[in-house]
Amino acid sequence: MHSHFICMDKTIKITYNDKSFDFDLLKGSENELGINIKDLRSKTGLITLDPGYKNSGSCISDITFLDGEKGILKYRGYSIEDLANKADFLEVAYLLIFGELPSKIQLEKLKNNINEESIVDEDLKVILKSFPKSAHPMGVLASLTSALTAFNPSAVDINSEENMFEAIVMLLGKFPILTSWAQRKVKGLPLIYSDISLPYIDNISQLMFKRPNQKYEPNPVVTNALNKLLILHADHEQNCSTSTVRIVGSSHAGLFASVSAGISALWGRLHGGANQAVIEMLESIRSDGGDTKKFMKKAKDKNDPFRLMGFGHRVYKNFDPRAKILKVSADEVLKELGVTDPVLEIAKELETEALNDKYFIDRKLYPNVDFYSGIIYRALGIPTEMFTVMFALGRLPGWIAQWREMRLNNEPIGRPRQIYTGPTDRVFTPLDLR
Ligand code: SDX
Repeated sequence: MHSHFICMDKTIKITYNDKSFDFDLLKGSENELGINIKDLRSKTGLITLDPGYKNSGSCISDITFLDGEKGILKYRGYSIEDLANKADFLEVAYLLIFGELPSKIQLEKLKNNINEESIVDEDLKVILKSFPKSAHPMGVLASLTSALTAFNPSAVDINSEENMFEAIVMLLGKFPILTSWAQRKVKGLPLIYSDISLPYIDNISQLMFKRPNQKYEPNPVVTNALNKLLILHADHEQNCSTSTVRIVGSSHAGLFASVSAGISALWGRLHGGANQAVIEMLESIRSDGGDTKKFMKKAKDKNDPFRLMGFGHRVYKNFDPRAKILKVSADEVLKELGVTDPVLEIAKELETEALNDKYFIDRKLYPNVDFYSGIIYRALGIPTEMFTVMFALGRLPGWIAQWREMRLNNEPIGRPRQIYTGPTDRVFTPLDLR
């Protein structure tokens, strides 16, 4: 499966207890280097400790490359700039999952396969009905996605590529309906169905925006903005939610169950939930009088839990290339839609201040993908609580691609070790003596 990685002839020596141990140095196709420690414990009795896996690679992958220092992001070798400006989201989904840009025939076949699956069992509405209107759409989406397993049992035990393909097109066909129902439930709107006469992106927008008393006419500005947003969110190597999808799938849990777990991980405000948190932060700065300096001070105060949402990144220590594209797109979309948004000016002020502030410069904290995406979602009329659902809709092909690679590579079940620091041998005291 791996087409590029080269095991260097160099080795790394670790000396311990007067013995020296050799470990291979691996080099990827983009010259990333890693020490192969798969035999570390059996050779030395030692393990490594790396909270948050800041220095640990979980896998070898051919899917997405990012260079945090240079602010580079590529899907299967194609730059994010090219894909965001020239490709269609379904093309990018095909590229991520199957490794190549599709021909017209291949894309048409995928679209037809997806169309055949673009319905969900009516009984899913019974589950949806059981949620209060106040339920967060991400919690609803995680539950409905997991429930897909119950209605499509054939997608549980995936032991063949054919089985896998069926589960993949099922998810690509049904997921937009689930995201739409999660939103329409909260808004008290009637639940509607996919319109397979429309292109994939326009079907997503009709599922979200179609009003029961109107014929839906796709708006090219909305289509183009959604297409770009979903492509920019489509994959991002081993981020928190993708690592969750991989580790759940490594136990041979089904694709729907693995993606449902990924949705829950993405929900967190330090991860995909940040796009909602950014708008809430900008709104609170605006309602507080718009004093960005005051909030910059709070963000730097160690005693203040406030963080500048949409800033900083585990890997990007330079501008997130997606943020650069979205910053331009935010201006374009608002102008094309004739929308002004006071928080956009606050966002630009915060960015300028942070880029010139020692605290942020020293820590290499730059705007990330979540900093501008919410402003565009809002301009498109998407409710704030749905922003992370939009992130999930974009990230779906990436989760699928990574899950498929993990299974095709027969990766072992994920089971990290630990350093135990609890109490050692204690004698049991019977209850009546305690
Ligand atoms: C996404 O991994 C991915 O690829 C994720 C993602 C994807 O596509 O899947 O790119 C999507 O999740 C983007 C990130 C969205 N999250 C946010 O915008 C939330 C705000 N950002 C932070 O919480 C933080 O920057 C993280 C969680 C994104 C990264 O945290 P790290 O790498 O664990 O860094 P850290 O918390 O150790 O911070 C290092 C320093 C600390 O200060 P010191 O202790 O060194 O003095 O930077 C500070 C932090 O306090 N810091 C911030 C900050 N982010 C980091 N200070 C103020 N505001 C911030 N936003």
